[in-house]
Amino acid sequence: MPPLCLLLCLVGETGAKRVPKIPRCPVTCSCTKDSAFCVDTKAIPKSFPPGIISLTMVNAAFTTIPEGAFSHLHLLQFLFVENNDVQALSKHTFRGLKSLTHLSLSNNNLQFLPRELFKYLDILTDLDLRGNSFRCDCKIKWLVDWMEKTNTSVPAIYCASPFEFQGRRIHDLTPRDFNCISADFAVYETFPFQSVSVESYEFNNNQFVAFAQPDTGFCTLFVWDHVEMVFRMYHNITARSAVYCKPVVINNTLYMVVAQLFGGSHIYKWEEDPQRFVKIQDIDTTRVRKPNFVETFQLDDEWYFAVADSSKAGSTSIYRWNSNGFYSHQSLHPWHRDTHVEFLDVEGKQRLILSSASQPPVVYQWNRSLRQFAFHSQITETFDVQMVKHFWVRNVLYLCLTRFIGDSKILRWEGQRYVEIQTLPSRGSMAVYPFTVGPRQYLLLGSDFSFSRVYLWDDLTQRFQPFQELNMRAPRAFSLVSVDNKDMLLAASFKGNTLAYQHLIVDLSAK
Ligand SMILES: *[C@@H]1O[C@H](CO)[C@@H](O)[C@H](O)[C@H]1NC(C)=O
Ligand SMILES: *[C@@H]1O[C@H](CO)[C@@H](O)[C@H](O)[C@H]1NC(C)=O
Ligand SMILES: *[C@@H]1O[C@H](CO)[C@@H](O)[C@H](O)[C@H]1NC(C)=O
Ligand SMILES: *[C@@H]1O[C@H](CO)[C@@H](O)[C@H](O)[C@H]1NC(C)=O
Repeated sequence: MPPLCLLLCLVGETGAKRVPKIPRCPVTCSCTKDSAFCVDTKAIPKSFPPGIISLTMVNAAFTTIPEGAFSHLHLLQFLFVENNDVQALSKHTFRGLKSLTHLSLSNNNLQFLPRELFKYLDILTDLDLRGNSFRCDCKIKWLVDWMEKTNTSVPAIYCASPFEFQGRRIHDLTPRDFNCISADFAVYETFPFQSVSVESYEFNNNQFVAFAQPDTGFCTLFVWDHVEMVFRMYHNITARSAVYCKPVVINNTLYMVVAQLFGGSHIYKWEEDPQRFVKIQDIDTTRVRKPNFVETFQLDDEWYFAVADSSKAGSTSIYRWNSNGFYSHQSLHPWHRDTHVEFLDVEGKQRLILSSASQPPVVYQWNRSLRQFAFHSQITETFDVQMVKHFWVRNVLYLCLTRFIGDSKILRWEGQRYVEIQTLPSRGSMAVYPFTVGPRQYLLLGSDFSFSRVYLWDDLTQRFQPFQELNMRAPRAFSLVSVDNKDMLLAASFKGNTLAYQHLIVDLSAK
């Protein structure tokens, strides 16, 4: 506020009058009554003679312009900051320049301009941005938007990068040319226990998750609290060495298949009055000796579950629902130490993919007339596959094969066989999880010896691209839950807290 300062500056400590000190022309500038022309300036001078309406700065030694650098020059109408090496501006660089009609930042080294840079320049008629090296990405989306609407005249400017936009006239771009929506997985809720399985299910219009906790000896259920917006402890089922807690809702009744390493595996039924789980069935321990995983599926309108058995003597077994209990339906190959079983329906054929410690993954196919699964094929030559999961992208089927060490693999179904299209490094990977949020196809590859990694499917290359690293300790299972407009990724952790991550949409152009 120069006028106020001038008045106060007249009054010394003794009150004696002094000669008013009118700011002089800065040493690097030459001034006339209403203009200043500055060359080789090291910093923007703090004071100028009053009445300056035109300021020019060329060959300046500074590369950034701080916030409010010109705020003491509110009479300024013309500002030419040209032929310098300015690389960055603060969002509030031009704050206070209410009278500015002409602004030039031409021939600098600007790659982008902060959002709302010109917001308070209400009467700006001419803006020269030529001769910069603009990077046409999300950071200038606002500029494209602004130029489309403003009445300020802006001579043509061009993109210097990225490659696909090089040489394009920025006026010709539209906000739609920028894909600025990204995402972030952020920890939302921490559960203070270790777990090895996580499954989500809906029951009685509520959203639940079930965790297997071998060290505390429970299958623990949490329910989503729509008011507090968190998962809240709901119920425990005692299960001394639970490795998998698999919910299945049949005919509005909730059943829980509780697979245990010791003491056999059991099936529980939820009763409403009083609210409790009642054990309705034991699973034959001569078949299932060392369960590792439970899969449920529907086939010809009937419910089944399959328990992958990882012992030498046991075998992966299939059970079928029969109005009041699960009946042993079929035992698949014994002696193979199966780690995982995945159900999928391909072109009307129902298949199970078995991952085993003893051999590469194999496919069993449903034979409708026999009502049995029969050996169909081997997928690849790859050994040591912990888990095979499938996913679809635009009606094309893909598999991901997790290996503990070495490379995990992505295969594409090509009508007759699976073809390997990508490898992903495994650093102690026990679990993989393909999932979608809106149009985005992700793959999460768990890791014991490094960060777990989220990959995002890229439609252009038809491959996964690394997307985000997540710090989990020995992840064993994942599950996506969407409730109250939140997309949450739950991660069972064998050696740390169990975690829920929220998938947040991020607009990269909004910074
Ligand atoms: C541009 O000028 C027109 C006509 O004077 C006016 O209606 C419009 O509001 C102006 N646009 C902006 C963004 O100032
Ligand atoms: C379940 O068990 C945990 C661990 O012992 C305990 O903290 C929790 O209160 C139990 N929850 C219910 C609903 O019984
Ligand atoms: C569903 O439950 C009802 C009531 O308990 C029973 O009458 C019906 O048979 C059940 N249906 C099936 C397919 O199990
Ligand atoms: C089902 O099994 C029967 C008996 O082995 C066989 O003849 C038939 O071809 C099989 N069906 C299919 C679709 O594979």
